[in-house]
Amino acid sequence: MSNPNFPITRPRRLRQTSNLRRLVRETVLTPADFIYPLFIVHGRNIRHEIGSMPGVFHLSVDQLAAESVELRQLGLPAVMLFGLPAAKDPLGLENFAPNGIVQQAIRELRRANPELVIMTDVCLCEYTDHGHCGIIEGTQILNDPTLEILGKVAVSHATAGATMVAPSAMMDGQIAAIRQALDTAGFSHTPIMGYSAKFASGFYGPFREAADSPPQFGDRSSYQMDPANGREAMREIELDVAEGADIIMVKPALPYLDIIRQARDRFPDLPLAAYNVSGEYSMLKAAARLGWLDEKRVALESLISIKRAGADMILTYWAKDAARWLST
Ligand code: PBG
Repeated sequence: MSNPNFPITRPRRLRQTSNLRRLVRETVLTPADFIYPLFIVHGRNIRHEIGSMPGVFHLSVDQLAAESVELRQLGLPAVMLFGLPAAKDPLGLENFAPNGIVQQAIRELRRANPELVIMTDVCLCEYTDHGHCGIIEGTQILNDPTLEILGKVAVSHATAGATMVAPSAMMDGQIAAIRQALDTAGFSHTPIMGYSAKFASGFYGPFREAADSPPQFGDRSSYQMDPANGREAMREIELDVAEGADIIMVKPALPYLDIIRQARDRFPDLPLAAYNVSGEYSMLKAAARLGWLDEKRVALESLISIKRAGADMILTYWAKDAARWLST
């Protein structure tokens, strides 16, 4: 098919120099876009690289002051905390213990960097011996009894000084239950970021090694979403908004860019987060190690595509690297 506008129209005119390309660039990444996930473990002097996630570490609480200084120097505004408890049990008691691992981490980060936005993942799977995100009866994952625990965990994190809580258990009604628990405990100012459209994804594989949280039987398909369902994702987000979510999220990011775009268009007034999950990170890391891909290029390209799709903020294991790359 001939182009009737050619040779008048030549899109290449605006691609000729780096400064021209900068002028017409539609999407810009900044360190302020990133939320950096941290995996906290008991013990001292631990900085242990996670095998399936090169460049990501298990950190003990004593490492966090230095870490938070680095984050401040890089201009990174926020962290998302995950904890590995000393012991697991059916309910996940350390999850809401005043001296639990995440509670200790929150206090240390708050002390070392008062400005840091401290977000916490509110879920059961890292803490329960069965590895499911809710409490179980036989092989059933119980919804409503789990809500009470999620509320306790959120209040416990807020009490320790968390800025924001982020429920990821995919239990129905979890935002409403947590909102009510927080408000009752005097934390009406504490925002909730909902992992609203969270899919049952194979891309969480490396995270389950990082957080030691694989389900001991079955899988998460009875609570996380079917990857085939886009309309249902909008419904999940709508429910989270109705229940009072302050920020909504789509997770994973790259295989779900269409969902991010739909969420942006359908919910234009709410901040939208996307989680660039462990598998999205590890697959590019692995290919880069083999010399098959240029890590910096493909990581920044992935992040810009997530933002272009409509995300305001991105949870990513590349947060520190990306902040460095963007400043050079
Ligand atoms: C649940 C949770 C998971 C992730 C974040 N919160 C794992 C899961 O649902 O199985 C995955 C994050 C990642 O893969 O980077 N607590």
